[in-house]
Amino acid sequence: MKGNEKVVKSLNAALSMELGAILQYLHHHWTGEGIESQTILPIFKQIGMDEMRHAGLIAERINFLEGDPTLAPAKIRKYGDLRKMMQDDLAGEYDAINYYKKVIKLCDEVGDSTSRLMMEQILTDEERHADIWETTLAKHKGTKEKD
Ligand SMILES: [Fe+2]
Ligand SMILES: [Fe+2]
Repeated sequence: MKGNEKVVKSLNAALSMELGAILQYLHHHWTGEGIESQTILPIFKQIGMDEMRHAGLIAERINFLEGDPTLAPAKIRKYGDLRKMMQDDLAGEYDAINYYKKVIKLCDEVGDSTSRLMMEQILTDEERHADIWETTLAKHKGTKEKD
């Protein structure tokens, strides 16, 4: 089924963000170290798996709409201590939340309800991810100087 060109383009931009997020969470999972790493590293992995599921859903939708799913990841934020990694991941979640809201609006405007619903469900996950980092960073606020 041929999809709206603007929707396919936006879904591909969303797919790029998901691919970037997968790689960023993987890199953080592989390289993060420090006193809190036992708690934080499994969260990087867990959220990375959510992003992998999102990438799969979006790629399948693009393919369904007769577009070509991209393999190019968006910006990846690497390096730093665990706190910097979590801040970078939170920034990535905020980027996704802001952009996905625009995609949802576009899907609504052109009457692509299925893409809209999919992006709304993904948005729910991204808000949950952002909340995990907001909560974790707030919890570790007092330990900043000791990091
Ligand atoms: Fe995602
Ligand atoms: Fe996310």
